[in-house]
Amino acid sequence: MAPLIAPSMLASDFANLATELQAVTEAGADWIHLDVMDGHYVPNISFGPAVIKAMRPHTDLYFDAHLMIAPVDPYLAEFADAGCNGITIHAEAGPHLDRSLQAIRDLGCDVGVSLNPSTPIDVIRWVLDRIDLVLLMSVNPGFGGQSFIPSAVDKVAELAQMIGDRPIRIEVDGGINPDNATDLVAAGASVLVAGSAAFRGGPEAYAANIKALRGA
Ligand code: DX5
Ligand code: ZN
Repeated sequence: MAPLIAPSMLASDFANLATELQAVTEAGADWIHLDVMDGHYVPNISFGPAVIKAMRPHTDLYFDAHLMIAPVDPYLAEFADAGCNGITIHAEAGPHLDRSLQAIRDLGCDVGVSLNPSTPIDVIRWVLDRIDLVLLMSVNPGFGGQSFIPSAVDKVAELAQMIGDRPIRIEVDGGINPDNATDLVAAGASVLVAGSAAFRGGPEAYAANIKALRGA
């Protein structure tokens, strides 16, 4: 099955978010990936719920929020109100993962957990019935444009085995390009995030970039 492609707005032109959203939507993106960074959980600061709210009217695509913030609980409602469809938090973002996941569900959003490269997949074993998505990081979170960590492919395969036939998507994020995309999808990934590989070359290149990532 062809993967869903989720361009990360982190790699877009922040001075032109509305036109970037329109361009990437017309170019065939499936989801919009929103990387929220707090300068505390990760060593970089990006944007928050006010900017997401301002982006919301400019595309009908699914807003896939990736919250790299800690604490995360006090901000979940604001991200839901801003128009995020799915909210993904890091397993390490708070002391009670199960409770945070329940809070996302109660807000009416799809529920995701993200695992850093060094985080074992075992941390989600007992919350599998609470989640719709696992976001495996294939770089250390905080920056776009980093190199893909190849062990992510085996991790996807192990995770796919753990998930079995549960309706949980595996999304992979970081350093994804058309070369490693094929291996990730073969291992069981169904959503691929792409920053640099989606936005390189400017708006005229977006459609070809997305097509190449999808393997079409
Ligand atoms: C990293 C972010 C990624 C990043 C992807 O912390 O979660 O979504 O923007 O960018 P590329 O595809 O350039 O690695
Ligand atoms: Zn991300």
